[in-house]
Amino acid sequence: MLTQQELKQQAADAALKFVEDVAAPDTVIGVGTGSTADLFIDGLAAFKGRIRGTVASSERSAARLAALGLPVFDLNEVDFMPIYVDGADEIDSKLQMIKGGGGALTREKIVASVAARFICIADESKLVTELGKFPLPLEVIPMALASVSRMVVRLGGKPVLREGFVTDNGNAIIDIHGLAIPRAKEMETLLNDVPGVVTCGLFALQGANVALLATQDGIRRLD
Ligand code: 5RP
Repeated sequence: MLTQQELKQQAADAALKFVEDVAAPDTVIGVGTGSTADLFIDGLAAFKGRIRGTVASSERSAARLAALGLPVFDLNEVDFMPIYVDGADEIDSKLQMIKGGGGALTREKIVASVAARFICIADESKLVTELGKFPLPLEVIPMALASVSRMVVRLGGKPVLREGFVTDNGNAIIDIHGLAIPRAKEMETLLNDVPGVVTCGLFALQGANVALLATQDGIRRLD
C-alpha cells in the first residue's frame, strides 16, 4: 500500500515526463505551490541547463527553485510557457479545481493563464464528483473582509478568516465552508466580481488540461 507521500511522488514524477517532451534551451516551465509541487520542483532540478528556467506561483516555490539552482523569472519577462504544473485541493471529472489551500491562488491563476497547458498533479483522493467539500479560498483585500464575509453568508457559505495568514500579495484569505458548487464556472464569475475579492480559488473558467492522478495501481490520466 503506497502512502500519500509516495502517491504524490508518483504524480510529480509523471509530470516530469511532460517536461522531458518540451525541454529546450528557451523553455520556461510554470511551477505551482504546495507539497506535491515541491516534489515536482525537486525533480525539475535534473533539467538544470536543459531549460531556460521557471516562473513560480509563490515566493515559497521561487525560493525552493532558486535553492536548487534553477533560474526563476519574473512573469513579466516571459510571454510563453508550454506547461504549468501544480497540485489541487479538489478536482472534478471536467478538470475544474479548487485551489488555494496554500494561499497562492492568485499567482497560481496568473501564471497558469500564460501557459499553454495546465498539468494538475495529485493523488486520487483529490478527485470529487462535485466541488465544495474543501473550503473554497478567497484572496481578499483587507479593508473588504467584513463586506465580503457578508456576501459569502448571503450566498449560503460560512466565511472563516485564515488567522495570521498574509498572501504574497499582502492580502488576507477567507475560506468559505459549506458552499455547494454545482455550477463552478458561474460561481467563479460571481465570486470574482465581488468588490474586494482579488481571486477565488475556483479554477473552472480555465481548468486543467491534463490531470495526473496517482492511484495504488499507477497514474490515472484525465484529459
Ligand atoms: C496552493 C495550492 C495547492 O496546489 C493545493 O493546496 C494542493 O496542495 P498539496 O499538493 O500540498 O496537496 O493550491 O495554493
